[in-house]
Amino acid sequence: MAADLRTHHGFVAVRRTGAEEQVVGFVTWLPRVGDVNLVELTWLGVTPQFQRRGLGRRLVEAVADRCGQIGVSVMEVTTLADSVDYAPYARTRAFYRTLGFRDWRVDADFYGPGDDRLVLRKYL
Ligand SMILES: CC(C)(COP(=O)(O)OP(=O)(O)OC[C@H]1O[C@@H](n2cnc3c(N)ncnc32)[C@H](O)[C@@H]1OP(=O)(O)O)[C@@H](O)C(=O)NCCC(=O)NCCS
Repeated sequence: MAADLRTHHGFVAVRRTGAEEQVVGFVTWLPRVGDVNLVELTWLGVTPQFQRRGLGRRLVEAVADRCGQIGVSVMEVTTLADSVDYAPYARTRAFYRTLGFRDWRVDADFYGPGDDRLVLRKYL
């Protein structure tokens, strides 16, 4: 992630308290090499105590707005597939599906034996 953050595009969600600023969420993204019509969301996270307040949605919407500005009509994201029994990522899939991402492809054993990868896409 540290290596990606040096080169990927991104937005942060910032909480201001007086003169203090705290980053409480971030999203990174990258145009797909070889497909000028597609942007990939590469990393996304919201600090646990600030989740379920709409920040994740606003971060993804910020990328969608930028896609509109640069003429890109597809956003893609990858995560663990439904076949992997791991509760945190069930929540992640629910988040993306609520935002209008649709299942695009499952890559079996992508992360290791039994750890399938789900690719989701949202058409803007
Ligand atoms: C996924 C994540 C970024 C969502 O951020 P968030 O700020 O909590 O999301 P939002 O508040 O914008 O949620 C938007 C909608 O998504 C859905 N959603 C969000 N979190 C959910 C959860 N835990 N379970 C079910 N649905 C959820 C809800 O419909 C929610 O709307 P609502 O709160 O009005 O019901 C955050 O949970 C997170 O950082 N998770 C850990 C890291 C991660 O999974 N990153 C993505 C890796 S691919």
